[in-house]
Amino acid sequence: MKILITGGAGFIGSHVVRRFVLNYPQYEIINLDKLTYAGNLENLQDIESKENYRFIKGDIVDREFIDGLFEREQFDCVIHLAAESHVDRSISNPLEFVYTNVVGTVNLIHAFKTHRKNPEGFFYHVSTDEVYGELSDEGKFTETTPYSPNSPYSASKASSDHFVRAYHETYGLPVKLSNCSNNYGSHHFPEKLIPLFINNIRNRKPLPVYGTGDNVRDWLFVEDHAAAIDVIFHKGGAGETYNIGGNNEWKNIDLVRLMCKLMDQKLGRPEGDSEKLITFVKDRAGHDFRYAIDSSKLMNELGWEPSLQFEEGLSKTIDWYFENEQWLEHVTSGAYLEYYKQQYEQR
Ligand code: NAD
Ligand code: DAU
Repeated sequence: MKILITGGAGFIGSHVVRRFVLNYPQYEIINLDKLTYAGNLENLQDIESKENYRFIKGDIVDREFIDGLFEREQFDCVIHLAAESHVDRSISNPLEFVYTNVVGTVNLIHAFKTHRKNPEGFFYHVSTDEVYGELSDEGKFTETTPYSPNSPYSASKASSDHFVRAYHETYGLPVKLSNCSNNYGSHHFPEKLIPLFINNIRNRKPLPVYGTGDNVRDWLFVEDHAAAIDVIFHKGGAGETYNIGGNNEWKNIDLVRLMCKLMDQKLGRPEGDSEKLITFVKDRAGHDFRYAIDSSKLMNELGWEPSLQFEEGLSKTIDWYFENEQWLEHVTSGAYLEYYKQQYEQR
């Protein structure tokens, strides 16, 4: 089976690519990624020479390129993760999110529909819980919660979800969707809360907590998300949506305090030392108050469950950043962008 994974050089995509390449040597895995600021081939160095793996640099927004690629390669299935993913960037530059997340997704699914030969093949769209909007103190998002996106990022993801479902309803194309909560783990770009704050605590830089810090997020270890994608890919029903969450809600401020505590212990700093770095700053515009996910459909029907307790996962994540200083240094300095040139330009 030939599987196209898009966005495989990003945070979640690199975990998904690695899992599929290593666990399924019988599959041919092609990773298509534009290598934006968020795409980093250093994330995949350990598997880049595997026989069942290939990387293609390309933009999902480029219709001609995508159409030619699908015509040539005849993929059996697509797992689509490529996206602009950062809410704060979407507030300053919404159009980029429309191009990649909406136009890019439609280009891909249209080319898949046009050139598909395998009637068993399907298009798997990876999405976010942010499409459901925000919750107050009570309740959880289920698969039937109405869409109510609040940020340009979540509006673009909601739109892409609707297009994927429309291709199923209108053209009978087999599709699968999943909507996941906040991921954390290794290879996370240090613009997002957890990796940014790990880096800042380490370097004794201020920790900019938006608003009051009372906003709530549900956190899931990235490898558990990749495992859920694996299960849905293999066992999920066509036309179905699955919510994926960690059942692990944290107020931002409590999470930041936990990170400070763990890092003080690891760095041998006095208790309470890093908390002094916490700085409350102007809130994010349209900041969703709370996300919480009900994953019972995925758990009951497909038998998935999260594998790690949060403190353990967070501790592993912090250790990974300590052990991979060079990765962080390359990412923060932009040096990782040179990697593609060195590794791939001559091939
Ligand atoms: P990321 O920003 O780390 O990675 C995105 C990847 O997509 C990068 O490798 C980038 O180079 C690539 N890309 C961007 N624009 C492209 C284009 N035009 N053509 C080809 N490739 C392009 O994102 P992530 O956090 O790994 O998220 C991956 C997917 O999972 C996204 O669809 C996101 O909406 C979804 N998601 C993320 C989370 C989370 O907590 N990070 C949670 C739920 C769902
Ligand atoms: O819920 C899933 C979503 O989770 C994904 O779809 C997105 O791609 C992913 O980026 C993430 O979105 P969030 O906006 O929740 O993640 P972020 O790490 O940017 O912020 C987490 C919380 O921390 C949020 O309430 C905003 C707050 N925050 C964030 C940053 C970067 C701060 O207080 N300070 C910060 O500097």
